[in-house]
Order: sequence, then C-alpha cells, then structure tokens
Amino acid sequence: MKYDFNQLPNRLLSNSAKWRNNTRAYEKGDLIPMPVADSDFPTSPEVIAAIREFVDQGAYGYSMDRPTLVPAIQSWLKDRFGWEVEAEWIDFNSGVMDGFFSILSVVTEPGDGVIIQNPVYPPFFNYTKNGDRQIVLNPLHWDGERYVMDFENLESLFAGPGPKPKAFVLCSPHNATGRVWDLDELKRLTEILLKNDCFIISDEIHFDILRKGVKHTTLGLLGKEVEQNMVLITAASKTFNIAGLRTSYIVIPNDEIREAYKAFRIGRSSANFIGKIATETAYTQGVQWLEEMNEHIEKNARYMVERLSQEAAPIKAYVPEGTYLLWVDCRGLNMEQEDLMKWFVEDLKLSFNDGATFGEGGVGFIRVNVATSFALVEEATQRIIDGVAALQK
Ligand SMILES: Cc1ncc(COP(=O)(O)O)c(C=O)c1O
Repeated sequence: MKYDFNQLPNRLLSNSAKWRNNTRAYEKGDLIPMPVADSDFPTSPEVIAAIREFVDQGAYGYSMDRPTLVPAIQSWLKDRFGWEVEAEWIDFNSGVMDGFFSILSVVTEPGDGVIIQNPVYPPFFNYTKNGDRQIVLNPLHWDGERYVMDFENLESLFAGPGPKPKAFVLCSPHNATGRVWDLDELKRLTEILLKNDCFIISDEIHFDILRKGVKHTTLGLLGKEVEQNMVLITAASKTFNIAGLRTSYIVIPNDEIREAYKAFRIGRSSANFIGKIATETAYTQGVQWLEEMNEHIEKNARYMVERLSQEAAPIKAYVPEGTYLLWVDCRGLNMEQEDLMKWFVEDLKLSFNDGATFGEGGVGFIRVNVATSFALVEEATQRIIDGVAALQK
C-alpha cells in the first residue's frame, strides 16, 4: 500500500463537526465519534500538494475555472462509470444539497409531491418540506438479505385520483442502507417513473465507495430517454474527504431544464475555488488513493460486521455494497430509541447517527461510520460486544 489510512490527523484541530459537535462525553476525551458521513483520513497527498501550491501563491481574488476541470469530471464519469456527458451539461454547486434544492425548485412547483425512499439521508426530508413540496414515501423493504425498492407501492403512488408526484429522489448508493442499485432494479424503476412523467434527481455522492466486485450503475447509463428526465448531483467530497471545501457538481442533460436551472441560479453562489482545484486533482491523480481507501474501508466494515454477528447478538449488521456506513439493527436489544442512543454515548462512549432521524423504518437502528483507522473500529467493536455482554448478565 502506498497510502496509510491508519495515521489520522487530529480532527479536533480543524473543528471537525464529527469530532467536536458531538456530546459532552467527548470532552472527557474517551468518546469515539462515528456519526456524520465524512472520513477521518487526510485527503490524498496529491490533492494536498495542489491546494498548497494555490495557497502559497497568496492572492485569493476572483478566479476562473481551469480549462482542465470540466474535462477531468467528464473523464471520471466516462472511465469509472461509462457515461459520456457534454461539457455544457455540468455546473457547480456549493454542495450536493445546494444542487438538490435548486433542481427541485426548477422541476416541481410548491405543493407537488416528491417521492423519497426511507430510511434515508435526513436532509432530503427537510429540503423538500422547506420548499413547500409534499413528501411522498416509498419505504424500502428488507427482503431477508438486503433492502429493496417496493415497485408495487411506487406504482400505486401514481394510481390515485389526486395529483401525481412530480419528482423522485434516488439515493444511489443508498445512504443509510448501503445498497448499490443493480441494473435490473434501475430499469424497472425508470420504466415506472418515465411512464408517469416523474423527474429523477439522482444523488450519487457515494458512488466511488464500493465493495470489491460491486458495480455502480450511474443513472444516465439507462438510455437517452432517462437522460432527458434526470439530473445527476454528486461530488468528489465523500470520496476524498473534502466536503468542507463546499464543492459539488450537477449534470443536466435536458436543455430546457438546464436553462431554467441557470435562471434559478442567478444570484446564488457556486462552488469554492479551492474545492474545484481539489476535485480536479483528485479526479486526475487520485485513483490509486481511492482504490486503497476502498480496501481499507472494506477491511474495517468486514471486521466490525463479522465480530458483531458472532459476538454481539441480538445486534444485527451486514456489509453494505457501497458507502462507508453500516446500518446496524439494534431492535433485538428492546430499548427505546432514546435509551439506546444514551446507552451508546454514556455507557459505551460511542457516538453514532440515530436511525430514527432517517425516517420511518429507522427506529431501533444506528448508522455507524467506519471510515476511520482500523484501531478505532476495533475499539468500538469491542465496546459494543462488551456492552451487550454486560446487558445480558
Ligand atoms: C446522500 C447524501 N447526499 C448529500 C449529502 C451532503 O452533501 P453536501 O455536503 O455536498 O451537501 C450527503 C452527506 O452525508 C449524503 O450522504
């Protein structure tokens, strides 16, 4: 391995939200923070060098994009996922959720229904509600092995006498269940959505973080008709731990929607210039770093899941196909959600995301971020095992 994912920077020094904005327990110095979807790794040395070069020249006035930025994104989408996009389809945002809100505002009207598949990344709910759109749920189902989409329910959402939902939020890979949707699922999904004139917002921010042998299908690959009825919102931010640089991009193949989006964006700020430098460098020089990070995450995830499965029943965990997030079922502990989260923080000194915040279907679950050193994953795993054993005494 060329890169080391076990030497972590002191994230307290950079006021990391994951490490600082936690609980008082952390102030005692012994809480392992595993919420929030960012990693604890320093970004790739190549990205750090490019940022350093820009910082060192000292003048941070208005800048134009380097002509190499958009081609770097086009190559990333083509080389890794096989999707060819035109340069003019791409625009920048100060975060994927910035892009989400803008495109949702363009393709729907206040009062329109927006389909969201829970349990899922919580801001989808708030951003939809704040835009005066109606949340329409299509809950995912556990089929005994993995979470799957409920196509029958989806069809029924369009069948009623009332207004049909106008947009569908695809989280792909899915945060928090870790599903990487396969081609057949996406085909069936897009058939239903196209038939019902429902626009698709495909949030693929986690698309680079995959288990070995798992293939991510970016939505634009499903053909020209789908391409005209969708946008991709994504970033290099989760992959390369640069989310704090507030830079993401949106790909809008449909000319009319792109024009409406551009009109909506007038007066809104775009991405951060340092974030753009980081994105371009990551996409042109970061492949090996990414592959090694994926190996490291795979090891962490498999370790925790195997040990919890063998030694922490009734807690249930599985290795997700994508993301660095484990969706862990703690319902067998028979605790109220508030007590569960309190038990983790106060007794075990572990901080996770509360599954209940991911919407219906999340109660009794926690979301665990394993994008950290192996030592911290080992320690957290042991604390859970010891905690469950103590409960059973
Ligand atoms: C699925 C998903 N979308 C969007 C975001 C947020 O992205 P940004 O900070 O670029 O708005 C996250 C962060 O966890 C996420 O998991």
